[in-house]
Amino acid sequence: MSSPSSFIKRTNNCGELRAEHIGQQIALNGWVHRRRDHGGLIFVDLRDRSGLVQVVFDPEIANEAWQTAHDVRSEYVLAVRGEVRRRPEGTANPNLATGEVEVVTHEAQVLNPAETPPISVAEGGEVDDMVRMKYRYLDLRTERMQRNLELRHRAAQVVRNFLSAEGFWEVETPVLFRPTPEGARDYLVPSRVSPGNFYALPQSPQIMKQLLMVAGVEKYFQLARCYRDEDLRADRQPEHTQIDIEMSFVDREDIYDLTERLFHAMFEESIGVELPMPFPRMTYAEAIAKYGTDKPDMRFGMEFVDLTDIARDVKFKVFSGAVAKGGQVKGICAKGCGEYATAQLDTLTEFAQQHKAQGLAWLRVIEDGVDSPIAKFFTDEEASAIVEAFGAEPGDLLLMVADEPAIVAEALDWVRREMARRENLIPEDVFVPVWVSDFPLFVWDAENNRWDAEHHPFCMPHPEDFEDLERDPGKVRALAYDVVINGIEMGSGSIRIHRRDIQQQVFNAMGIDEQKAEERFGFMLKAFEYGTPPHGGVAPGFDRLVMVMAGEDNIREVIAFPKTQKAQCLMSGAPAPVDPDALRELHVRLNLPPQE
Ligand code: AMO
Ligand code: AMP
Repeated sequence: MSSPSSFIKRTNNCGELRAEHIGQQIALNGWVHRRRDHGGLIFVDLRDRSGLVQVVFDPEIANEAWQTAHDVRSEYVLAVRGEVRRRPEGTANPNLATGEVEVVTHEAQVLNPAETPPISVAEGGEVDDMVRMKYRYLDLRTERMQRNLELRHRAAQVVRNFLSAEGFWEVETPVLFRPTPEGARDYLVPSRVSPGNFYALPQSPQIMKQLLMVAGVEKYFQLARCYRDEDLRADRQPEHTQIDIEMSFVDREDIYDLTERLFHAMFEESIGVELPMPFPRMTYAEAIAKYGTDKPDMRFGMEFVDLTDIARDVKFKVFSGAVAKGGQVKGICAKGCGEYATAQLDTLTEFAQQHKAQGLAWLRVIEDGVDSPIAKFFTDEEASAIVEAFGAEPGDLLLMVADEPAIVAEALDWVRREMARRENLIPEDVFVPVWVSDFPLFVWDAENNRWDAEHHPFCMPHPEDFEDLERDPGKVRALAYDVVINGIEMGSGSIRIHRRDIQQQVFNAMGIDEQKAEERFGFMLKAFEYGTPPHGGVAPGFDRLVMVMAGEDNIREVIAFPKTQKAQCLMSGAPAPVDPDALRELHVRLNLPPQE
């Protein structure tokens, strides 16, 4: 091995060598990607961040270097000096950017050996996720992860450049703070110097960014870390990054416009994709009615059709019974799926039942009506009214759910997406954004018997609904919006309440009286008394945006050191027990559940 302090330093990067470098004396540093021993010659694919190049060790040319190469193995760190030459006739590799050339080595140093890695960087393939997380630093060496890290970096650059050019200031906000109102569970940090007191890690900088508007910052952004102790999913991590944005003296249109241009710049500059502008819009009510969800995937059709009126008086009790109980009957038309066999329809029915439906009614559209075991329950007029409502043609399949509205929405949303998957209706590399607006301001919290903020309690009520704040809180819409791409919620925001009286009205509806409001948000309400500008903002989820741009389906793939489903870091072992002394200093005593 070479001396640890001096080594052959690179003149070039592995992945940049081309025919134009032929004849040049160069030096490379990198990792042994693959090594092939052909008896006489040894070939090493040397890899650095830029890519890889074939390095040849020939005992006739440099015996000592050849000896060195003899002992290297995958992932050894190597420095070589040599000459770039054209690969011999017939050995060029058109699949490799550097495939026209190779480097004949004159001198080689092992900078560090490597244990046999538990993840083969070169071979890739299916590696157990647990192994990937444990040896994340090796996993990150793979081409896929390097590509994702670079993409994330570039996307962040675009965000900073774009927003700076728009006049935004990047302001950092504290990580040790008070509870913020996003509604997940907080991560708490005990204070040593204030016994019995805790910081909460912010679920978002929501309060702080609004205070920055009081502070006259006018245009704020931050690539902000947010911490939420909630159930994790493919698009949820305990810590995530938001492109947090807040602006003063704006209305919704200003925020739509800014967000659309920001997304456009990100997609164009990071992955060369032009998003359609302006983004289409729909209200929350429309989204639920047509797609059963507030994050509709607009890459394919199959909008819901409402059959409630037709179903009211039919003989089929599943339908008429549901309507009589105040429910709905809705369905989708699967074009050309009339050939589905009964067994396929049975699995679809089970699928719907797994998603809360009691069943899935189906009708095959045929030349002179409909075909199905339930067809006998419909008169010819009713059957043709149903077919017409769907705009269906012979050969189509109609799938329907009857139940209370929330279940119809949920089950049929699953069925719609499942049919799109089965029928390959989802185009690849297509990104379809949509704004969903006018969310309800409150949701009913049945457990605690009270209204809760659907987004957070600082959203401005819709001006048309002020009257209902006291009368009928469930009816009040908020000036709140989500931006959705391909069925994933990419960001949320709202116009905020900037007047104390309106804020208190909203708190009242939530059962937060003046005293409680004072306790929880007093510092914020106080600030609002000193001249608060009208303001609003949005917070796109940065991890989710990068995930979608990278074509990945889990945000873990675009986060350097992510956590597992159980919020653990398998690499470091966090979370971990701490020294009893440390707990004593924090005035914390453990009260653990009994061991299983
Ligand atoms: P919200 O809670 O909707 O709004 O979050 C904004 C966006 O952040 C992303 N996101 C997440 N990404 C990964 N893992 C998570 N656990 C996670 N939680 C949220 C989503 C989401 O749309 N302060 C408000 C925004 C505002 O009103 O301006 C907020 O945090 O993409
Ligand atoms: P049943 O009357 O239970 O034999 O159901 C007759 C057909 O209606 C079956 O295909 C069921 O899957 C379907 N079905 C049952 N309940 C519902 C429902 N709530 N919505 C839609 N279809 C249903």
